[in-house]
Formats: sequence, C-alpha cells, structure tokens
Amino acid sequence: MEECILHKRKSGLNGTIKVPGDKSITHRSVMFGGLAEGETTVVDFLDSEDCRSTMSCMEQLGVQINEQEGQLTIKGVGASGLTEPVNVLDVGNSGTTARLLSGILAGFPIYSVLAGDESIHRRPMSRVVNPLREMGATIKGREDGRLAPISIIGGNTKGIYYNSPIASAQVKSALLLCGLNSEGKTVVNEPHISRDHTERMLKSFGAEVIREGTRVEIQGGQKLVGTKIQIPADISSAAFFMVAAAITPNSSIKLLNVGLNPTRTGIIDVLKRMGATFSITNERMLNEEPVGDIEVSYSRMQGIEISGDIIPRLIDELPVIALLASQSEGLTTIKDASELRFKETDRIAAVAEQLNNIGITVEPTEDGMIVKGSQTVTGGVASSLGDHRIGMMLAVASCISENPISINQMSAVNISYPNFVRDLNYLSE
Ligand code: S3P
Repeated sequence: MEECILHKRKSGLNGTIKVPGDKSITHRSVMFGGLAEGETTVVDFLDSEDCRSTMSCMEQLGVQINEQEGQLTIKGVGASGLTEPVNVLDVGNSGTTARLLSGILAGFPIYSVLAGDESIHRRPMSRVVNPLREMGATIKGREDGRLAPISIIGGNTKGIYYNSPIASAQVKSALLLCGLNSEGKTVVNEPHISRDHTERMLKSFGAEVIREGTRVEIQGGQKLVGTKIQIPADISSAAFFMVAAAITPNSSIKLLNVGLNPTRTGIIDVLKRMGATFSITNERMLNEEPVGDIEVSYSRMQGIEISGDIIPRLIDELPVIALLASQSEGLTTIKDASELRFKETDRIAAVAEQLNNIGITVEPTEDGMIVKGSQTVTGGVASSLGDHRIGMMLAVASCISENPISINQMSAVNISYPNFVRDLNYLSE
C-alpha cells in the first residue's frame, strides 16, 4: 500500500475497537523473555515490523521464539547467556531495538554488529554508546560511534551513576539492561520521568529495581525468571482514534483495554485540558501495567500550552496533537520537545511540511511548534516520509478534509499498526 487515498467521514466515527498491543511493552517482553531462565509467554503482542525486528535479533542471539494463535512462547537463554550472532543484527526502523539491544549486548562477552535502515543510520546512538563505553563496553561506529552501524564487544562491565541529559526511556533502559549483567549497581537519573515499562517489567521477571522520583537503581547479577506477560493495547495507537473522534463531527467511540501507564497518558491530560468529552472506565492492572477502556466523542476544544514534564509522557503523540490543535479554538504552543527532531523523521519539520501540504499552517520552532486553531483541512497530496506516525496523522486529517488526501509511502504504518486504515474504515463505515 504505497499510495492511499482517503476521504472525509461525513457520518463521523462510531463503534468499539481494541487497537493492537503496545509496541514498547512488546519489545521488552521479547528481550526480557529471551534473557530469562525458563519459558515466557506473551499474549496480545504487537505483530508489526518493529517488533519483528526485535524478535529476529533475539533469535540470532540464540533465543527460541514460537508463535501460535497470536501468542509467543519464548525459551530464554538464562545464565548460559546469549550466543555470538553469525550475521549483522538488523534492527530495521526500530530505535527501541537499536538502543535497548545495545545495552543488552554491552553486558555479554560477544562480538556483534548492529545496523538498520536509512532512518536508523541517521538517528543518534551516542546517547547510549557513551555511557555504555563508560561501563566498559568496546563500541565502534560511524563518526566515533555517534551513528550506526555500530559494533560492540561487551562483557566485564561495571555499574555507573549516570545523570542523563535527556529524558529518554531508551537510554535509561539500555543502561539498566547492561547494569543487570554488570558488577555493582547502576543508577540512572533523568531530568523528567520517561516511560517506565522496563522498571515495571523487570519486576514481573523477578528483578529488584529501586525507584525514587527521577532516579532508578539496579543491582548487577540479578537473574530474570520467565513469566506470562499480557500486553495492553497501545495508547500511542489509540491516540490517533481519540483525536479522530474528538475532531470529527458526529463521532463517539470506545477503545478497549488501553494501557494507562501514567508515564504515557499525556495525551489524555491534553484532551481533557482542551475540553474533549472523555471518560475512562473498567480500570484494572495487567501484570504491572494499568489499563482501562476509553470513550471519546466529538467536542469543541480550546488551544493550550504543552511543555515541561508532560513532554516525555506524550512525545510520540505530538504529530497528531498538532493536528488536534489546528481544529481547536485559539493558539496551541508546544515547547521543550526538541527530542522530536531525533525520531523516525525530524518530526517538527515533517509535521509542519506535511500538514502544510493539506492546507494547515504550523509554525515550527527549535523545540516545538505553534499551531493556530480553527483551520480548515483542504486536502491534497502528502507523504508519511516513511514515518508511521506521520502517515497515521495524515489519515486522521482525512476524516475532516474538504477534498481527499492522497498519502504516499503509507506502508510505513506497518512499523506499529499494520491494519490502521482498515480499523479507521471500520469505525466510519
Ligand atoms: C520508547 C521510548 C521513546 C519513544 C519511542 C519508544 C521506548 O523514545 O519515543 O517510540 O520504547 O522506550 P525516548 O524515550 O528515547 O524518547
């Protein structure tokens, strides 16, 4: 599906849907299951290109993964450890695979080379390479390890105290995973709390992680024990439908079993602050992760300022929030989000450029965007630029577009939500 033409949804979006499993949690379940002793089963995992990249890398490292009826059974390598891969580990488009796997590999005395697609080879690796070198791993790469491909010779690592300059769950997780196999303790402190799925899931696998505000600590030498992991629906995927329902007249939808981890729910806070009609029911826990059902209806909303602590809690939702802002009244200002420039694309530039192609003006700033409200989506030709979240943002915009939107490179959605267009159509049949 390279080009996809989508039309206005006159009768709105209505119905109930369960979006696919959480991408961050699926990656971690496969990695931790692979490192654990014994068997791990993963229910409701996300079957997408990014998660397939993690699965094939773990298989190359000696982990057996079986798939049956939408469930994964993983035979962990446990104390005997990962085996040296014969070939280059291909992380595809997945930044989470690249960063977390670097942390895991740094803790094992094997040689490996990690590479990915053209987007991965542009994204910064130094944020994990530098602290992992400090822990004792030998890492080489392009521009002195700033860019992939990188090679890693791990093992004999020592815990560190790392004061991270950025709030990044990928950095924090990479260091905790190396720390798990290192001598002594590893402490990571970050400027704002980033998503904490690693900390929660390590607990499910029997490891002790000590947390205090923005500080996380792990003692090396702990073993992981195989377990059963149930994956919540991905709030970052659900966010596209939340926004679609909130901006499309005559809409009212229900999203089931959505992950409500407080480090991910910035989108809910934003929708509430903007005045969306919203409710959450059936709140419960799945393993260590909170979930619930979300209902959203079409509403008139007000622009707001989005900055500071909330940014890591909605970093992946900012493209679709920019679209939401264009349909609210008044101005929305997004600040402190320069991390957007290091995602699958430079998402500040990509959002401004692609929304402009369909009639919406967004002013890009160094660390965010300024979006005027009450704009009209006129339609036209745009592109995902190979970035799944830009493709889905454009598809959501089509729901209210005066003319059709033709989206190029729409197959990018396979990274996190292969059936996104089918599900959007289902809600607006
Ligand atoms: C992720 C963390 C975030 C997020 C990415 C997934 C993770 O990146 O943008 O899509 O699974 O740890 P950073 O924490 O590096 O900003």
